[in-house]
Amino acid sequence: MGCFVARSHDAIGILARHRTLLVVVCLTSLVTLWLCRLPKIKIYSPPFEIDVTGAPAAAEKHLDLSRADAPFISWPLARVCNEARWSPGIVFVCDNNSGGVGNIRNYILTCLRYAIEAGATGLVMPQIRTRAPDNLSSIMQAHQPFAYFFDEDHFRQSLGAACPQISIYQSTDHIPNAVNPFKVERITPRDFGPRGGCDNRGLNQHSDGFGRKFRAHVEEHAAEFNIPTPSPAHPRAYRLTWGVQFDWQTYRDGPEFATSYGGLLRFRADILKLGMQTAAYMREFAARQAGHTESQTFVGMHLRTESDALSNWPRFENQTRAYLERASSMDFKAAYLATGNSTEAAKLASAASSQHGLAVVTKDELLKDHPRELKALKALTWDQQALIDFVVLLEGDYFLGVNPSSFSMNVALKRHLKMDGLHTRPWKTGGDGDGRSWLVGSYEHYWKDWLFMYDSMWP
Ligand SMILES: *[C@@H]1O[C@H](CO)[C@@H](O)[C@H](O)[C@H]1NC(C)=O
Ligand SMILES: *[C@@H]1O[C@H](CO)[C@@H](O)[C@H](O)[C@H]1NC(C)=O
Ligand SMILES: *[C@@H]1O[C@H](CO)[C@@H](O)[C@H](O)[C@H]1NC(C)=O
Ligand SMILES: *[C@@H]1O[C@H](CO)[C@@H](O)[C@H](O)[C@H]1NC(C)=O
Repeated sequence: MGCFVARSHDAIGILARHRTLLVVVCLTSLVTLWLCRLPKIKIYSPPFEIDVTGAPAAAEKHLDLSRADAPFISWPLARVCNEARWSPGIVFVCDNNSGGVGNIRNYILTCLRYAIEAGATGLVMPQIRTRAPDNLSSIMQAHQPFAYFFDEDHFRQSLGAACPQISIYQSTDHIPNAVNPFKVERITPRDFGPRGGCDNRGLNQHSDGFGRKFRAHVEEHAAEFNIPTPSPAHPRAYRLTWGVQFDWQTYRDGPEFATSYGGLLRFRADILKLGMQTAAYMREFAARQAGHTESQTFVGMHLRTESDALSNWPRFENQTRAYLERASSMDFKAAYLATGNSTEAAKLASAASSQHGLAVVTKDELLKDHPRELKALKALTWDQQALIDFVVLLEGDYFLGVNPSSFSMNVALKRHLKMDGLHTRPWKTGGDGDGRSWLVGSYEHYWKDWLFMYDSMWP
């Protein structure tokens, strides 16, 4: 209740400040007019030269960052690292994650973003926590190496080139001069600095203050426990608490960073290849549906009704009805269906074909006549197989998913990058999509409907 009262006071305050605002607007306009007289203004010194009077460089604007194999654009990350304040001897460990690829990706990226702000000069190669094969809700199983999902060489090279200040250690055993037995302190970044707001799922509104507050904490801790302040000779390791994956406001670092940073986590080469091959088979399938015409267009759908889906999410009926209506209104004849549940897949496919003349296939069906690739698919775990879906859904001509699945959101946000490349602005929630994707679901409450995830997910 207190919050609502405070908010309405805020509203009254805003009205009272109306006059001040007018003055500010006038002054700003004058300054803008004055600035416009100048022929050309460059901000930042090289190599980050940006022409603020011109349009975004054409090459960057048309860079298609929506593909799973998009190049990694390193200068926005290099800029953040150049501006960071480094604290030699601080090492971050980014393994207290869980869930599907949407959650794992964002946990690792969030953890690394905090590590940079903390000035960590060491990062232990992130690991990935797995889920039980016979119980999809059981997501706190043993760790697998980074390469369970991602391309390790790509990560090392990309991070190394952008942030040479950070050394990557293969495991906690490889941190030079670490105390024996190894010790790691657990931290929750948003605890550093006072927070306002009513909902404890709130994003960190104070990430600018994190580095300063964190370093003060490290010093105090050293004094309190009479241990040396961190240095290469006395490194100290930090691990984030579980669940810190939707925490950092991504656009805080500017659109160039928000749209490129996620490129650090490229899928493992063999998974990427199998995904691209599956997408190629999907195009062939679509061409056959269209009667061997030129058209190979297809719509991708993510049906999220597996046994671990939460009870208040849109159900099978809601998702299916919405997807099929939209796909047929757009005249699609072929659909790729991503789901981890073959029973439900068959149900959707049968409704699609009988009611809408829409042919629906899954990855298993597409690879059925390709034994080598089918075998490679079967060798993957449930969560790894979802990466194949991820790649194909990025390749499709339209995407239908469900809010608030982090997998659906991640696909939609990455597809959104095709719009303006590095200059893509945030996805607008709750509307009709961006012309490339649409997510069914409820968009009434910022917290309850998990809309905060759109503000804290790197595509
Ligand atoms: C599956 O895992 C969840 C989370 O660990 C647990 O609560 C549930 O009891 C498990 N279900 C079965 C059938 O073991
Ligand atoms: C991960 O975080 C949770 C709290 O969110 C904590 O209980 C757990 O011990 C952490 N795991 C490790 C290995 O530190
Ligand atoms: C698949 O869906 C059926 C309901 O159609 C359900 O009974 C089953 O538990 C689901 N399996 C998985 C793996 O989610
Ligand atoms: C599912 O569809 C029903 C009927 O249209 C609707 O009342 C309900 O709110 C929907 N549920 C969700 C979670 O979208």
